[in-house]
Amino acid sequence: MRRQHHHNHVTSNQPMKSKMIHPSRLREHMRDLHYLQSVELVTPFRLLIVLICSILMVLLIAFSANEEDILYQSYYTDVPVNLTRGPYHLNYEYVQQLRDDMLALYGYSPPIDKVEKRSKLSLQEFWDLYDGKWPVIVTDIVPNWTAYKEWSKDFFQQKYGADKVILKAVQGMLQDGVAHIRDMRTFISYLEQQVAWNSWTYMEDELFLMLRPELKDYIGNNYLIEENFFNLFPSEIRPWDCMFLWGTKYSRSTLHMDPYNWTAVSAVIWGRKKWKLFPPGQDQYLYTQHGHKCGFPLECKKYDSEVDAFEIDVWKYPKFRKAEYLEVEQNSGELLIIPSGWFHQAFNDEETLSISMQLMNRNNYLVVLEEIIKGKNLSRKRLPAYFNTLLPPDQVKQFMSMLPKKILKHGQEVTDSILNSLDVRRNQTADFQQVLPGSE
Ligand SMILES: *[C@@H]1O[C@H](CO)[C@@H](O)[C@H](O)[C@H]1NC(C)=O
Ligand SMILES: *[C@@H]1O[C@H](CO)[C@@H](O)[C@H](O)[C@H]1NC(C)=O
Ligand SMILES: *[C@@H]1O[C@H](CO)[C@@H](O)[C@H](O)[C@H]1NC(C)=O
Ligand SMILES: *[C@@H]1O[C@H](CO)[C@@H](O)[C@H](O)[C@H]1NC(C)=O
Ligand SMILES: *[C@@H]1O[C@H](CO)[C@@H](O)[C@H](O)[C@H]1NC(C)=O
Repeated sequence: MRRQHHHNHVTSNQPMKSKMIHPSRLREHMRDLHYLQSVELVTPFRLLIVLICSILMVLLIAFSANEEDILYQSYYTDVPVNLTRGPYHLNYEYVQQLRDDMLALYGYSPPIDKVEKRSKLSLQEFWDLYDGKWPVIVTDIVPNWTAYKEWSKDFFQQKYGADKVILKAVQGMLQDGVAHIRDMRTFISYLEQQVAWNSWTYMEDELFLMLRPELKDYIGNNYLIEENFFNLFPSEIRPWDCMFLWGTKYSRSTLHMDPYNWTAVSAVIWGRKKWKLFPPGQDQYLYTQHGHKCGFPLECKKYDSEVDAFEIDVWKYPKFRKAEYLEVEQNSGELLIIPSGWFHQAFNDEETLSISMQLMNRNNYLVVLEEIIKGKNLSRKRLPAYFNTLLPPDQVKQFMSMLPKKILKHGQEVTDSILNSLDVRRNQTADFQQVLPGSE
């Protein structure tokens, strides 16, 4: 028998409070789960090395020493990663230890169970304290963008009213969502209509901005994501960046991990989002669906949970109660960065326009490469023995140069066929409809 799902379901069975995650507790918890591949890494001796390296690094910056190379080294020489030999797993314990050491070095002790809102955050501090380690909201980047000032409802109505857009409509539960193609104008009229907890619309369009480069000019600089190893991918297989997300109140993403487990970057242009963010290593509580693919030109596994964390069916998903997560509200003009390995779900608390981007850099590139190996079942034997002695961007270049030609060819075919089918559908007046999982 199918259960009824109502909003009060959430309030009665699963109080909407932040589940506190005390790092020390979390660490114990992780240990129990055998999540950690190599706890023995964190010996006092290695910690000392990390500290010394960190201090050296800070000194180097202080004296503006030339070598960016050295900065990379200090991150990685202590991590015996050898992609050539075997699979890489994100070691969350190690990463948290690194963060604790860095916090000590900075003499900074932020709340341990919250997502901070920061401004004037230096790139180095971002790398040291947050990137790949802990989510953060940055408040002084998006307000500088032209998009923030000019992307009004009227703007899209006037300039793109007749354009076809992809949207998700939900009547009932999140899993019952159906994708449609509609005029922007029609979509905007939906925004004006009555919405309800289980009746909402969400434009989740991966191609809208990509196909309109003039719109990308409205998105200004973001120094935190300038180091972007996706730029080192051959163009045929480079994942699309910048998804356009415009939803009514109550609209939401699934609970998921982004493709290749990349770092998720979300910018709210207007509106307000609520997020639930799950630290790594809790797959066994999240009912991850197997066999999903990301559908990008370079295919990858996609980790989606069956659970709607904003409307939890505790009878169907009892283990979910054990999952720990952070909650945060992201307001207009705020940028949220969610590290690799964190499952997340977004909920629009009012009508919200946002864009989401992705990050692959020095702090998560191994995760992304590993997910590519998995997604394409690549042989590690192709990687040279010296692979892990290269600097991170050189590893990425080397990796890319070794991809079989047929993968590039296939990537191009996927892109062409998607663009072509979109073109055909755009030209059709009849509505098109299809079940599509969303992501954000
Ligand atoms: C935003 O713009 C202000 C004023 O133009 C400038 O001072 C500030 O550095 C900019 N911030 C960022 C993060 O680019
Ligand atoms: C990516 O995330 C999934 C889901 O949590 C996890 O099983 C997998 O190990 C992660 N990949 C890497 C390379 O850490
Ligand atoms: C992956 O490749 C190996 C050999 O390279 C092969 O034995 C295995 O069956 C492949 N797995 C899948 C799922 O294709
Ligand atoms: C990485 O693994 C390869 C293949 O097993 C090996 O030849 C190489 O020496 C290893 N590199 C390091 C630094 O351990
Ligand atoms: C769609 O319409 C445009 C403009 O009318 C035309 O150039 C294009 O070839 C059409 N595409 C398809 C696949 O019919």
